[in-house]
Amino acid sequence: MERMAEPYKIKMIEPIKQISREERKKALEEAGYNPFSLKSDDVYIDLLTDSGTGAMSDNQWAGMMLGDESYAGSRNYYHLKEAVEDITGYPFVIPTHQGRGAEQVLFPLVIQPDQYVLSNWHFDTTRAHVDFANGKAIDVVTREAYDTTTPYEFKGNFDLEKLENIIIDKKPENIGMVVVTITNNSAGGQPVSMENMKEASRIARKYGIFTVMDAARFSENAFFIKHRERGYENHSIKEIIREMFSYTDAFTMSAKKDGLVNIGGILAFRNDHEEMFNRARSMVVPLEGFPTYGGLTGRDMEALARGLYEGIEEDYLKSRIHQVEYLGNRLAEGGIPIQSPTGGHAVFVDAKKMLPHIPGQQFPAQVLANELYLEVGVRGVEVGSLLLGRDATTGEQLDSPLELLRLTIPRRVYTYNHMDVIADGLIAIKDRAKTLKGLTFTYEPKVLRHFTAKMHPVD
Ligand code: F0G
Repeated sequence: MERMAEPYKIKMIEPIKQISREERKKALEEAGYNPFSLKSDDVYIDLLTDSGTGAMSDNQWAGMMLGDESYAGSRNYYHLKEAVEDITGYPFVIPTHQGRGAEQVLFPLVIQPDQYVLSNWHFDTTRAHVDFANGKAIDVVTREAYDTTTPYEFKGNFDLEKLENIIIDKKPENIGMVVVTITNNSAGGQPVSMENMKEASRIARKYGIFTVMDAARFSENAFFIKHRERGYENHSIKEIIREMFSYTDAFTMSAKKDGLVNIGGILAFRNDHEEMFNRARSMVVPLEGFPTYGGLTGRDMEALARGLYEGIEEDYLKSRIHQVEYLGNRLAEGGIPIQSPTGGHAVFVDAKKMLPHIPGQQFPAQVLANELYLEVGVRGVEVGSLLLGRDATTGEQLDSPLELLRLTIPRRVYTYNHMDVIADGLIAIKDRAKTLKGLTFTYEPKVLRHFTAKMHPVD
């Protein structure tokens, strides 16, 4: 696959360094075989997340100097509000410190205790906030998402039949809301089609159920619709985004992804939800801050107002998606099993297929993450049984349907040469994959173990 020249040039650089293999071995041991516990100085190429790790433009940095740090009514809030309304069509806008800040404000207003929440796939924090609001999260993703080898253009989709059946089975009054997650992070950054969003929304509205967009990667999703869904090839990205948001009542957004900022989030409502907006504005004060700053500085809001526009530019999106696809193609050509086709923000390596001798209970994707770090100093992240955790009542380790290593690509940060280092590293591991050993806990925290667990290779 051809490389594509970036639609920007580099004005400032941040040095990175590859420490020696011996040093990496020591660092990994000290980190308890958990890449989350590595110091970033010991990492050469950091693919832990695409969240807050992107590079801002000169235009955004210039905007940072125009921060109006007034407690109430900052002019940067109004810039942000105008940008959000222009791009999504939602007039009622509340900034929050990041995506989960928006979730913690909205969810208790919508979910009644013991109600179910249905999503194509809840992100971890989204699920946690459903739990905190005493709701019960159910994922209803299309079955194609679980089959990494068969290409399917919209693996992020809802299983619509299952969605409606659950609503009927549990009764509409017991459903708190439907959450449309774009793109579907956990399935591999996979997009949701316009058709699927429209149908999910039609079903929810038929039963009077509130719908929320989890819009972290909304512009990447729009790009996929333009290039993969019939009838949208001649629509602008903005037109596609407008239509996507017409199918939901409110959105929560982690602006640290497609918003192209290092911190920030948004909670917004459609024009017919002023009453709920007013309730959210009261809630946001004790949780995040006054409703015209919500945990952000004026300069953060200015950077975000500008980042939202840069994130929907077609040239930028083309280059972004192409770079991720390039890495995916290099891996596939090198015989590495990946979630196919590649998604928007990451390449997901199928560790179950690459390390079939390591059972889920010994965390094959974590083993692969560690080996990749030892090989070239690249830090990826496990999305599998380690992340999934144990059954809350029985304490039994749950078996994840997928054991994935996520190689998450920060926006506008790394070059194609870095993609080659990552690909060469993984391909070099392939031949000795059989010799790799599973992992067992030396310390397993009860909650959110993914982040702080300590482990050791099994004998
Ligand atoms: N929703 C989705 C789909 C996400 O991917 C994330 C964060 C959030 C909500 C929460 O947003 O971090 O700003 O509070 N995802 C990051 C990741 C952390 O690595 O995938 P946040």
